[in-house]
Amino acid sequence: MFVKDQSDLVADWDRLFRVFIRPEGQVSRATLIKYMDRILYGLNDFLKTNVGITEAVSLKELSKNFTDTLIHDNPEKKLADVITCLIDNIAPHAVNVSSPYFVGHMTSAIPFFMVHLKTIVAALNQNLVKLETSKVVSIVEKQVIAKIHRMIYKHSDAFYQEHVQNTDTTLGVFVEGGTTANLTALWAARNAKFHPKAGFAGIESDGLAAAYRAYDIDRCVILVSRLGHYSLRKSAGVLGIGNQNVIPIKTAPDNRVDINVLKQTITRLKQESPRTCILAIVGIAGATETGTVDPLETLAEIAQAENAHFHVDAAWGGPTLFSKKYRYLLNGISLADSVTIDGHKQFYMPMSCGMLYLKDPTALDVIAYHSNYVNRMGSVDLGIKTLSGSREANSLILDCALKIMGAKGYALLIDHGIETAAAFAREIRRRDLFELMTPPVLNILTYRICPPDIRKKLASADDAERRKINERLNTVNRRLQQIQREAGHSFVSRTTLLQNNCSEDGIVVLRSVIMNPMTTIGILNEVLDEQEEIFCSQLKDLVE
Ligand SMILES: Cc1ncc(COP(=O)(O)O)c(C=O)c1O
Repeated sequence: MFVKDQSDLVADWDRLFRVFIRPEGQVSRATLIKYMDRILYGLNDFLKTNVGITEAVSLKELSKNFTDTLIHDNPEKKLADVITCLIDNIAPHAVNVSSPYFVGHMTSAIPFFMVHLKTIVAALNQNLVKLETSKVVSIVEKQVIAKIHRMIYKHSDAFYQEHVQNTDTTLGVFVEGGTTANLTALWAARNAKFHPKAGFAGIESDGLAAAYRAYDIDRCVILVSRLGHYSLRKSAGVLGIGNQNVIPIKTAPDNRVDINVLKQTITRLKQESPRTCILAIVGIAGATETGTVDPLETLAEIAQAENAHFHVDAAWGGPTLFSKKYRYLLNGISLADSVTIDGHKQFYMPMSCGMLYLKDPTALDVIAYHSNYVNRMGSVDLGIKTLSGSREANSLILDCALKIMGAKGYALLIDHGIETAAAFAREIRRRDLFELMTPPVLNILTYRICPPDIRKKLASADDAERRKINERLNTVNRRLQQIQREAGHSFVSRTTLLQNNCSEDGIVVLRSVIMNPMTTIGILNEVLDEQEEIFCSQLKDLVE
């Protein structure tokens, strides 16, 4: 973009004031309105050109344009020019996650009104860390938290009347994302387990070594299916528990945690050392790679018997509770001590919004912090019991979205995802060239290219031969995913799953996440057609 009049580009008080009050001039204002119009009402053509992270212009090429490391003394561009640059130079190279052909990640199209709501939230610029910078928004936040809590825990009217605006209790908190929600859950579990007692002021105050001494233990463990999200390991690292102590439990053939193996692991841990503490058992409601849901009721029973915190990571699957048809898949979630749900996943909110819900409204008392300048003792600031300090009013967006969509609107999205994934699985099974690796329970499935003659060979191969064949198939599927991604018509992601829980048998699979209501089985057929075409024209020789 050319700047016509460089003399205008000066930082001074006059111009500074104008920036705070309104756009810099009529031209900027007109450009802002023109582009906001395009962004707010025409998101689709704004990002239309490609799907996924294509090689149309390589990352290497792009990075050459971004090597200027000096902050200029005077402004470089006017608002109008900056906006045009964003639209013309940045947007075309961003990833079109809203395309119905983008079916590889948990990030997808959002309803168009979300952009408006996000704009309003930015304009209001409330800070939920304290009441003095949010007032009514803190109250709205408590109400919307109670609504989602009610969907999970289904307590009585009286319970919600008591807690919805109770400034002493906390039904849930908004955080940055699923990672922070999981971390908060385990933080609260850790502090509750190592609470203060005679001669010990609690783990938060005295630290891990003192806590282990005070409670006569030398190790804390967290048990979760091996499909658990890696944020659990991160959390254990941050909390000083040690990420090695997040123990991955093998899965059953249906990709849910194997309950027998879990029980055996608990028995073994106890036999190995009476000084091992089972801090938490985590159930997954919508595993990142396979979308599977653990047997939550059984896990709750085991956690109770072991006096362990029961956390459900429903970052992905939580909103399934909206669906009358499919909410049974999450049976047992109401038994969880804490539940993670991501707003930016199946609540279709803009990035980023995580939430943690608590069965016990006093459960977060153990992580409360105060200071003289914010979150003072006796204040009702929401920041008292959150890991974050300052944070935006995501709760307003969720509150409005629930009103605009209704439970039924969200249920339609959930049903569409689950049923389209099931139809996709049928189509994959119907096509000879493909092998369905993990059938969908919710709306995620994995599959791979595996020609019928190779499948036959695999069935009768010994271990060594099977590994060799799988290595070749891995190369083919890895290449296939890259070629398709770079072509830019459609996008599926890829991961590596362990066959028979065996770490030597990593199988590269293509992973599809069906969450865009515009994604139809027709589109998914096109994705498979393209994969067949790529395989036949470019990769066939690699499997021979
Ligand atoms: C099951 C599960 N838990 C936690 C997370 C972490 O969420 P976030 O990326 O919002 O931190 C994810 C992300 O994909 C997830 O799938």
